[in-house]
Amino acid sequence: MKQGRISQTALKVALGLVTLSVKDDWARRLPPGLVDVTERLLLASGSPGYGPRLMRMSKRPWMIRVYQIQDLMVPGQFEGFGHRKIFTQQQVEAAIKEGARQVLVVGAGFDTLCLRLAPQHSHVQFFEVDHPATAAAKARGVALDGQPANMTQIAADLGEQTLSKVLSEDGRWQSSLPSVLLAEGLFQYLTDDEVRGLLTDAATCTSPASRFVFTHAIPGPGDRMMLSFLTRLIAEPWKSAVRSEDLLKYVEGTGWTMISDVDTDSAHGVERYAVAERR
Ligand SMILES: C[S@@+](CC[C@H](N)C(=O)[O-])C[C@H]1O[C@@H](n2cnc3c(N)ncnc32)[C@H](O)[C@@H]1O
Repeated sequence: MKQGRISQTALKVALGLVTLSVKDDWARRLPPGLVDVTERLLLASGSPGYGPRLMRMSKRPWMIRVYQIQDLMVPGQFEGFGHRKIFTQQQVEAAIKEGARQVLVVGAGFDTLCLRLAPQHSHVQFFEVDHPATAAAKARGVALDGQPANMTQIAADLGEQTLSKVLSEDGRWQSSLPSVLLAEGLFQYLTDDEVRGLLTDAATCTSPASRFVFTHAIPGPGDRMMLSFLTRLIAEPWKSAVRSEDLLKYVEGTGWTMISDVDTDSAHGVERYAVAERR
């Protein structure tokens, strides 16, 4: 990713959700408040072009067709964003119900989960970590919306510093508390070694029975060439992919073990969803 530039893929996921909200019954299916908060974050981001006109255009029926054309090259990507948001919120809420006291979203982008859930769970601390340029752009919207007292945004490049170091320097994360970590649409931007390194490092600052909810790219045939070209074009190339069936072995030795079933759902597009537990 280009230093000092807002993540283009984070902007793209957020804008895609705005358009998805006007397709079929997606407005009802997406978590309540997600689209309104996303729009406000995008408008406040200061990213060139992300003004009221783009928000209006994004909700026009012809924009749905633009994404559907894109889906011919990257099958399932458009609705995949919606499925991803539903899955991750369900998993985080389930973990909180089972006792998680901290939620940490790694590579948060313009995701709205912490902003929406923090006011509903005052006994839980919510954390976000993202690349400095993207975190700063999001912080503008968070400030306008009103930052919940139990939400912390941390700006850090995880390519330069480990997650455990970033959290210990911030000082508010408590390694002894049951926690749920979330990495949505992040692992494909790291190499396999970096993914395993992140998992191993995360295990050092989380207590047993904590959960790690994540999505990952799956290896694909020819259609992936176009995706690879597109992500390289915006200087955010995909660097890793793993089959859902291979995750058990993939996470072996990192301190985590898989607790979710193999994800074979093609509605999830070029990604699959997973949950690991800290052993
Ligand atoms: C595709 S976006 C996904 C955003 C969000 N999780 C979502 O699904 O809506 C990937 C995110 O990972 C972040 N990211 C990528 N590499 C990173 C790094 N080395 N350190 C911190 N964040 C990183 C980007 O800034 C971006 O926000």
